[in-house]
Amino acid sequence: MTAAATKPISDCGVGFATPEARWARLGPYYAMFPFSFAQDAIDRFTRPGDLVLDPFCGRGTAPYAAMVAGRDALACEINPVAWVYAATKTAPAPDPETVKYRIGEIAESTLPEDREPRSEFQSLAFCQTVLGFLHAARRELRWRYDTIDRTVAALILHYLHSKIPQGLSNQMRHCRSMSPLYCVRWWNENGYETPPEVDPVSFLNTRVDWRYQKGIPLRSHNSGVTVALGDSATNLGQATQLARLVVTSPPYSGVTDYKADSWLRLWAIGEGPPLPKWDSKQKHVDLAAYRKMLCRVLSATGQRAHPDAAWLVRCDARERTFDVVLPILAEIASGRDVDVTPAPFRRPTQTSLYGDRASKPGEMDLLVLPRAMTDQPTARAG
Ligand SMILES: C[S@@+](CC[C@H](N)C(=O)[O-])C[C@H]1O[C@@H](n2cnc3c(N)ncnc32)[C@H](O)[C@@H]1O
Repeated sequence: MTAAATKPISDCGVGFATPEARWARLGPYYAMFPFSFAQDAIDRFTRPGDLVLDPFCGRGTAPYAAMVAGRDALACEINPVAWVYAATKTAPAPDPETVKYRIGEIAESTLPEDREPRSEFQSLAFCQTVLGFLHAARRELRWRYDTIDRTVAALILHYLHSKIPQGLSNQMRHCRSMSPLYCVRWWNENGYETPPEVDPVSFLNTRVDWRYQKGIPLRSHNSGVTVALGDSATNLGQATQLARLVVTSPPYSGVTDYKADSWLRLWAIGEGPPLPKWDSKQKHVDLAAYRKMLCRVLSATGQRAHPDAAWLVRCDARERTFDVVLPILAEIASGRDVDVTPAPFRRPTQTSLYGDRASKPGEMDLLVLPRAMTDQPTARAG
């Protein structure tokens, strides 16, 4: 098969000039792959109308890139925060006025007790107006079922915590939620004992106006995009069309399970307790369980992919991830080679920005070509 993109895909990785670019980066999330990574693979291995599949879709980079390129997409994500981002950016509420109206309704439904902090963390993290709004939003928003509510939820999650004055919170990191104990200690030691006064309605309305200013991303043909919420091993649905490209990046063993990193955002959509109680050390460290999870998900993915589909999997170069992913993919490739190309970090990683100086060997791209393309020269490392 020769890959053919009939029209160039607008570059959503830079700037905010087009609706596609403006919505592409909705949703701070830990360990996303670059838009260009998905875009290049879609360009190279698919034609308009083909199905692109990502069983670990995170904030939806791959299905979004597929959609703006006029491809169909099937994606799945188990973390509700990432799913809200992915489902919103591939199908935002069409009319910004309905989003702003709903934000007003949430504010009006705030009860006096919603404004009361339920922990020291809450009293330092948010002013009472924001806290009241968040408690009301947790109670009211039907983000699983309603596009407008989901769009409101996505915007709340995007701006939930950040540097003052870019978010609704006291001074915090944008991408990851740090532990409540760490935050409280840091605020007290650094002179942030009082959260900033923010009016959540005018704050969010301004962001709605900005996000919608250029419009919403258009699907370039009648593309079908499905982003499922849940475990990909059981939620990829029945085959109506087989994917021509699987482009994905699994969780990395020993790095994160995406729960502790997003605990505050999970709480904000009613998916977690006010303070994290689960074991935040669960980072896919149990290798047998990690292998089993990957086998289940990738074999379910194989059922939804064409036998000759291209597979591109970005994974951690460290052996506890790489050595697990490679043989599973080799088995799925059934006779085709798996080309391995190092993809070293070009910029400081999120963890190193936050002080983790541990050696980072980078990432690996594992590529299985469609049979018709296997004569083309590729960089083979293994
Ligand atoms: C490396 S991240 C993917 C990031 C994504 N490429 C992006 O650009 O946002 C891996 C994702 O897989 C999700 N995940 C882990 N196990 C899963 C499962 N069994 N089914 C679906 N998603 C899963 C995690 O929640 C996480 O969001």
